[in-house]
This record gives sequence, C-alpha cells and structure tokens, in this order.
Amino acid sequence: MQINDKSGATEFLASSARYDSMTYKRTGNSGVLLPAISLGLWHNFGFVDSIQNAREVLRCAFDLGITHFDLANNYGPPYGSAEENFGTILKRDFKSYRDELFIATKAGYDMWPGPYGNLGSRKYLIASLDQSLKRMGLDYIDVFYHHRPDPETPLEETMGALADIVRQGKALYVAISNYKPKETQKAAELLKASNTPFILHQARYSMFDRWIEEELLETLENNGVGCITFSPLAQGMLTDKYLNGIPEGSRAAKNMTYLTSETVQSNLKKIQGLNTIAQNRGQKLSQMAIAWILRHKQVASVLIGASSANQLKENVKALDNLGFTDEELQLIDGIVG
Ligand SMILES: NC(=O)c1ccc[n+]([C@@H]2O[C@H](COP(=O)([O-])OP(=O)(O)OC[C@H]3O[C@@H](n4cnc5c(N)ncnc54)[C@H](OP(=O)(O)O)[C@@H]3O)[C@@H](O)[C@H]2O)c1
Repeated sequence: MQINDKSGATEFLASSARYDSMTYKRTGNSGVLLPAISLGLWHNFGFVDSIQNAREVLRCAFDLGITHFDLANNYGPPYGSAEENFGTILKRDFKSYRDELFIATKAGYDMWPGPYGNLGSRKYLIASLDQSLKRMGLDYIDVFYHHRPDPETPLEETMGALADIVRQGKALYVAISNYKPKETQKAAELLKASNTPFILHQARYSMFDRWIEEELLETLENNGVGCITFSPLAQGMLTDKYLNGIPEGSRAAKNMTYLTSETVQSNLKKIQGLNTIAQNRGQKLSQMAIAWILRHKQVASVLIGASSANQLKENVKALDNLGFTDEELQLIDGIVG
C-alpha cells in the first residue's frame, strides 16, 4: 500500500527524549530488555485500515520508548498485510533506527492453502519466516514464535526448526505462544539441549483471563524464560470505551468473532466496578489493567493493541502508578474472581 506524504506526514525524526520515561524489563535470564509496554499489530494495521493512521501510531509508539513491535504472518486482514504495511513504514520512517527495534513475528495458524501452510511442521515454519522477512523487507527477525502448539507434529520437529532458524541467522531469538505449562516445559528442555536462545512465552492474560497464574508463570521462571502478555485490555473491555454503550468503529461494533457486543454487555457490571477502583487510584481503567499485569516479576512486557496514537499515550501513563495496596488487590479479586 502507498503512503501519501501529501498528508503532511513527512520524514520522521524520532524524539530525542524517547528513552527518558519508558521502563525496560529483562526477559527471563536473557540479555534482552523489553519496554514494559509493547505494541501489537494484530488489528488496525492491515490493508483494510488506514496506513496513515498506522504510521502515526508507530511513530508515536517509538517516541514513547516502545521499541518492541509484535506481528504474525496472518495479521491483517488480509493475511500478511500487517507485515507488508509495517515493512512499508519501516522503510520510510525507521530505516536508520533498525538496531533500536526489537521485532517479532510468528507462524502457527492457517496462512496458505494446502497441507504446508498451517500448524507446526519444519516445512511450514521455515517457509513462513522467509515470506515474513520478504514482506517486511528485513534480513532477520529479532524473535520468531511458534504461534500455537500443534498436537500432531512431534515437538522435536517444531523446536528443531526454531533452532535451525536461529542457526541460519534468520532469527536472533525464539519464542512460543499459547503453549500450556507442560508443553512449555518440554519445549524449554528441547531448546536448551540445542543451545537455542528461548526467551519468551506469549500468553493471553488480563483481569478477565487469569489462567497463567496457576502454573505457567512458575514454569517460565524455573526455565529462565520471560512472559509477554497479550490482550491485557480484554480487547478494549478493560477501558472506559464501553461504559456508555458500544461506540461506532470499536472492535465490538465491528462484531468480529473476537469481541462481540454480547460479551461486552455480559461483563458490563464488572467493568463498571473496576472502573470505580481505577478512579479511586487516580487512574484510567486501561492504566490500572496494565499496571495490574506488571505486578508479576515474570512479565517482561504487556502487549497492547491501539487504534490511535491517543490510546497509546493514555496507556503508557499506566507506568506512573504501578503499586497496589492489598485492599485494592482484594477489591479487584472480589470483582473478577
Ligand atoms: N499470540 C497470540 O495468539 C495473540 C492473540 C491475540 C493478540 N496477540 C498480540 O497481542 C496484541 C494485543 O492484543 P489486543 O489487540 O487484543 O490487546 P488489547 O490491548 O487488549 O486491546 C486493544 C484494543 O483495545 C482498545 N483500546 C486500547 N487502548 C484503549 C484506550 N486507552 N481507550 C479505549 N480503548 C482502548 C482498542 O480497541 P478499538 O480498536 O475498538 O479502538 C484497541 O484496538 C496483538 O496486536 C497481537 O500482537 C497475540
């Protein structure tokens, strides 16, 4: 897609203050520091979206100290288009900043037709990363993920492919996403045996979905692997967006299978209760939702989505108030269980 420079968005010179206020956290036992808040390109960066807006959000993120951008082969829609748009913007705005960026992509969900465009075979992962690098115009990716476990392919094959991708110089580090604790443990052992730098597990986690607390965080800590959590705002429900109905253009208004207006309605009482706690802390609900996740030492970064630069600016202010009293935590538990 073309960038229209007549819109006034011309050459990008990043803010010299970009590293002044962001917090950077070590991921597991690795040498990698990630911004406490990272930006995901699942929504709002495809060919169906405005590339001018995407460009503005990325520029704003970098100026706020967000150095980590998370993609996947199938982000769009259509599939591949978020990587392509990201590549266009990278070339235009971030070429001289490549070494200041930590870029992720993934493969694991359906990407192209036939038996080799999905799941966890060596054939799929290696071909998919080659395609992703081409779409983004990159020589290498900073971290490459297996996006979800594949029960049919031996884990030895999938982890072997990740190890070889690093050896080929196509990725600096590897990661997994959506793996349960036992699968994670086995993956960690295989990657350790091949001396492959396994640094991250990406898992859904928010006040509305607390599954990682039971076992996963401990498994990651035992293996020196960091956690990066996705959908921290439950796709917008943990913000003040839906307090007075479903605004036009929002995710719930688009009635995607990911977030329906029914889900929003059924959670509204909880959202209102949480919003009151946030107000009493002098925070927005979105800021409290992010701060609440960062209370775990294993969480290296909270991976947010944003449809505007203003949302990003609001969310990054979460870092101004990360502490919780026991009473606040109990009140939150009382609402979300
Ligand atoms: N590994 C996986 O399987 C997996 C799965 C899902 C996501 N992810 C990654 O995680 C990233 C984040 O996921 P997500 O987009 O679901 O995260 P999220 O942060 O829970 O939701 C982002 C959405 O919340 C709304 N929002 C954000 N800040 C707001 C604010 N201050 N006020 C009002 N509304 C606000 C926006 O919705 P509107 O668009 O309605 O404005 C935004 O698009 C993805 O981009 C992707 O990189 C990974």
